[in-house]
Amino acid sequence: MQSIDLAVCGAAPAFTDPLHVGRPNVGNQERLMRRIQDVIESRWFSNNGPRVQEFEREAARLLGVRHFIAMCNGTIALEIAIRAAGLRGEVIVPSFTFVATAHSLQWQEITPVFCDIDPATHNIDPAQVENLITPRTTGIIGVHLWGRPCNVAALEEIAGRRGLGLLFDAAHAFGCSRQGTMVGNFGRAEVFSFHATKFLNTFEGGAVATNDDELAKRIRLMKNFGFAGYDNVIYPGTNGKMTEMSAVMGLTGLESIDEFVATNRRNHQHYSSGLADLNGIAIAAYDPSEKSNYQYVILEVDEQAAGLSRDELVSVLHAENILARRYFFPGCHRMEPYRSHFPNAHLMLPNTTALARRVLALPTGSAVGADEIAVICRILRTALRHPAAVRSTLSRLEEVECRATVGR
Ligand SMILES: Cc1ncc(COP(=O)(O)O)c(C=O)c1O
Repeated sequence: MQSIDLAVCGAAPAFTDPLHVGRPNVGNQERLMRRIQDVIESRWFSNNGPRVQEFEREAARLLGVRHFIAMCNGTIALEIAIRAAGLRGEVIVPSFTFVATAHSLQWQEITPVFCDIDPATHNIDPAQVENLITPRTTGIIGVHLWGRPCNVAALEEIAGRRGLGLLFDAAHAFGCSRQGTMVGNFGRAEVFSFHATKFLNTFEGGAVATNDDELAKRIRLMKNFGFAGYDNVIYPGTNGKMTEMSAVMGLTGLESIDEFVATNRRNHQHYSSGLADLNGIAIAAYDPSEKSNYQYVILEVDEQAAGLSRDELVSVLHAENILARRYFFPGCHRMEPYRSHFPNAHLMLPNTTALARRVLALPTGSAVGADEIAVICRILRTALRHPAAVRSTLSRLEEVECRATVGR
């Protein structure tokens, strides 16, 4: 039998150390260490310190937004934005997103109602939103998946006409624009995540951006237990504060943001040209006329045309120590508690179901360069040149694994 140069077929793995989908961006390490030292010496670690204020000012300037309120993570920022905007009852969200979007509603006993996506954009499909509105609906949360902004205008039109609150989960979209306007300026508020894996990170962190003065005031109170001054609590609140350490990481990252974009864009281009002529394989593109952070390299696999399924390609890559991820499989509606609450949700979500089976995220960011990407593309090309052999090897491996599990 012909030998195929793939780890699933017995060759040595292409990488000795695991290659993750993302690797935290740091920026200038010397400046970061100096800032960390300053924080330690200042003994001002939390409670709206000078670095948090500086981070908020710098980020607001970059986005051109009136208010940028830094927080401890994106999930708490979402929860607070939802509460401050007065959402309750039911809120329409895509199922094809990280589960935090749905959980931030469920956590405060608001029902997430899952809307299908537009297969061309992977974002919530405005044409489906209206079918889901009931007398209990109070809002819509769009998600700018992969940093590609939703159809904001269509969602604003529906929200305005039906009297609904409109928020955006912009966890992926820091530094991205739509029709020349930076994400952060749409809807009543937009929520960012600065988790370690994100394009801009603050170790853990998040923020709400809004141009609504009243809403911003409420959010600031809510993220600090409702304190309006010493000993003066005027609102129910929680602890959503960002620390000074997080803020200095954010400030250092902001200084290098152009570099982060350049690395991601270069990687995206290498993958796009390296896989361009493969049947059944497409890479989610970013609009070159907009600002994008190019954070994700998303491959869509059409099993019929490619000869292998997305899951088979993931197995091929994992055997090589390339830890490609099935974002956001299987969709929130197939996770608990939503799976039990809405066992028939999939009937309304055909595009979500199909896409959740087709999509995988490839390693990018500072973890990879042209050489690693060339190897990853070579592996994918090799697998797709021998689909029948790869498939039969994988099913044999699965059988062996299954027998070993039963025998245990
Ligand atoms: C789409 C989306 N929403 C929300 C979150 C939650 O953000 P965080 O991890 O900062 O709480 C994430 C990522 O983690 C995300 O990808």
